[in-house]
Amino acid sequence: MIAVLRCLALSLVLVVGAALAPACARAAEEAGARANAIVVTGASGEFAADAIAELLARGVPFEQLILVTRTPEKLASYAQAGITVRQGDFDRPESLPAAFEGGKQLLLISTPGENAAARHAAALSAARRAGIRHVVYTSLTNPVEDNPATPARAHRLTEEALKKSGMAYTILRNQRFADALVERGAQALAAGEIVTNSGRGKWAPVARRDCAAAAAVVLTTGGHEGKIYDITGPDLINERDFAELLGDIARRPVRVLEVSDTAYMASLLQAGLPKPEILERASFGVAIRDNYLNIKSDTLEILIGRKPRSVRELLETNKARLLAAPAPSPSGPSK
Ligand SMILES: NC(=O)c1ccc[n+]([C@@H]2O[C@H](COP(=O)([O-])OP(=O)(O)OC[C@H]3O[C@@H](n4cnc5c(N)ncnc54)[C@H](OP(=O)(O)O)[C@@H]3O)[C@@H](O)[C@H]2O)c1
Repeated sequence: MIAVLRCLALSLVLVVGAALAPACARAAEEAGARANAIVVTGASGEFAADAIAELLARGVPFEQLILVTRTPEKLASYAQAGITVRQGDFDRPESLPAAFEGGKQLLLISTPGENAAARHAAALSAARRAGIRHVVYTSLTNPVEDNPATPARAHRLTEEALKKSGMAYTILRNQRFADALVERGAQALAAGEIVTNSGRGKWAPVARRDCAAAAAVVLTTGGHEGKIYDITGPDLINERDFAELLGDIARRPVRVLEVSDTAYMASLLQAGLPKPEILERASFGVAIRDNYLNIKSDTLEILIGRKPRSVRELLETNKARLLAAPAPSPSGPSK
């Protein structure tokens, strides 16, 4: 009798165990995912949207993501899908401990404007205190001391702070995004000309989505700690090459007017652009003219395992937007 009871009890354990096994495995998987959580900052921005899509495409489970933004309401759809969305603002460092809690890796997406270096320093210090192990930072090509591009200084200071932070790091020095060339190309086609202060200087525009794909690779594969990667597009071009491409795609000539910095800024002022944007655009023109952005690398192709998108591909893909009538505005170096 006792043997029968023992046997029944054992059967019960086995049956219940078999029923619970998938649930237990799922719970263990979720716990594992949470233990390797990736925090993405600036999560409502365009770069973040691409990075999140790339991380999910690489099989990162929802439970492994923590999205940090100043405006969680903009990310309601992610929250509804089961992804953790938290409020966090680098200008309010007190909001960051709760925002970063439980994170193991941090994708620190650079922020725009004058206070960027101080903001990023606040984010790094909070990240270290929260136990973040590895920070991936979106920097800029060649952020050396004399690079005239206005955001270069904040990127350089952030890189320095990151190297001293004690956390593992990977720095992604993104070239300027090629995506902005669609709007600029549309304006150039409408005006029939490109006005520029960048002379014959060259740069290697890179698709933002490809930069985001590189970030996702770095966050999901090993061997990237302590590395600084130049993330560039596949072609070095200047404004004449750009005009030629536009003319070729639209079958309309586009001429290039090389002007002085003052004349260029005056044209942007006339078009009604805000002063900080005028200064930033003009500073990038100088940086390109003086060859600070004349850097092309195959690192992106190696990281993402395919050819990065070329400017021609990006323009062809967006041909309808390129040929649509744009708001009248000059077409200097864009954001
Ligand atoms: N390489 C290039 O050509 C190029 C071009 C443009 C920009 N960038 C750089 O790349 C970054 C991302 O580009 P993007 O196209 O995604 O720009 P974006 O859409 O304008 O996003 C800017 C991001 O900065 C975040 N941010 C601003 N102030 C913040 C603060 N106080 N605390 C925390 N986050 C803050 C915002 O996050 P929330 O609103 O979600 O809080 C937002 O997602 C830019 O910020 C800039 O540094 C590079």
